[in-house]
Amino acid sequence: MKKVILDCDPGHDDAIAIMLACASPELEVLGITTVAGNQTGKKTFANARQVLTLIGSDLPVARGFDKPLLRELITAPEIHGETGLDGVELPAPLDKPCAARAVNFIVEALLSAEEPVYLIPTGPLTNIAGALLLAPEIKEKIKKIVLMGGGVLVSNKTPAAEFNIYVDPEAAKIVFESGIPITMVGLDATNKALFSFEDIETLSQLGGKVSAVAAQLLAFYARRLKRFFDVKGAHLHDPLAVAAVIDPAVLDTKFLQVDIETKGEFTRGATVVDLYGVTGKEANAEVAFGLDLSKFKSLVFNAIKSLDERS
Ligand code: BDR
Ligand code: CA
Repeated sequence: MKKVILDCDPGHDDAIAIMLACASPELEVLGITTVAGNQTGKKTFANARQVLTLIGSDLPVARGFDKPLLRELITAPEIHGETGLDGVELPAPLDKPCAARAVNFIVEALLSAEEPVYLIPTGPLTNIAGALLLAPEIKEKIKKIVLMGGGVLVSNKTPAAEFNIYVDPEAAKIVFESGIPITMVGLDATNKALFSFEDIETLSQLGGKVSAVAAQLLAFYARRLKRFFDVKGAHLHDPLAVAAVIDPAVLDTKFLQVDIETKGEFTRGATVVDLYGVTGKEANAEVAFGLDLSKFKSLVFNAIKSLDERS
């Protein structure tokens, strides 16, 4: 089993990423850490715990940074609503909140792990950068960072940048320059990880407790994506990063050099990808361009079905 820590900002697609990670027999989730992004730190922390309560998991959830390293927080209520998980009633969290802060949790979990651990960040990279600044020795204990963020030819927050990288570009720069193996699961691939309205309907017909909530979440999210981007369904951005750890063959990738724009007038948070090798710099990331959509959908459907059976 691959040991993983999921660092997220739930967020509708983060919620599905949590479900996929927790249900997959290939993964051992050491814990969930949350970060401010789609909503405030308080809300994303509560949301992660509510999703775990729904699926009957007692994994620890550690709350992370309430704002980016250097900038003011930007959230995404236009996509994820005022709670961050609008569109559904979730159970109140039953757990006892984890006392550790996310960066301490990450550092301690890594240092005490017997084998290297995968980090799966699906929100702004603030916690991951914070942990690397606090304890650079954790680098040796990280097998790979498989992150949802960025894009080569596509963006969503601005004409130049994807949301997660845009919110905390300085954190992203620290992570991309860390020398740790990185898979960048960006919009070029995740925009193709589309659950159509028919898929959402199929999910709602499964008849279980978890699938019913997942379908309601995705229906809300798909309506918002339609309004803002004219998308026909729900982009499962974050679950694709989890799927890429479960089975790396789900992605089509190329090793490339990626810089993060922190200073541009119009390009804050752009992932500047050297497609043609013009910088002469060594590749620092495996960049995703596409996916095996039917394999990905099977992973998500099977995970949710197994959570229905368990709950
Ligand atoms: C990313 O931004 C968030 O809104 C989603 O949860 C995902 O992590 C997509 O750009
Ligand atoms: Ca997210």
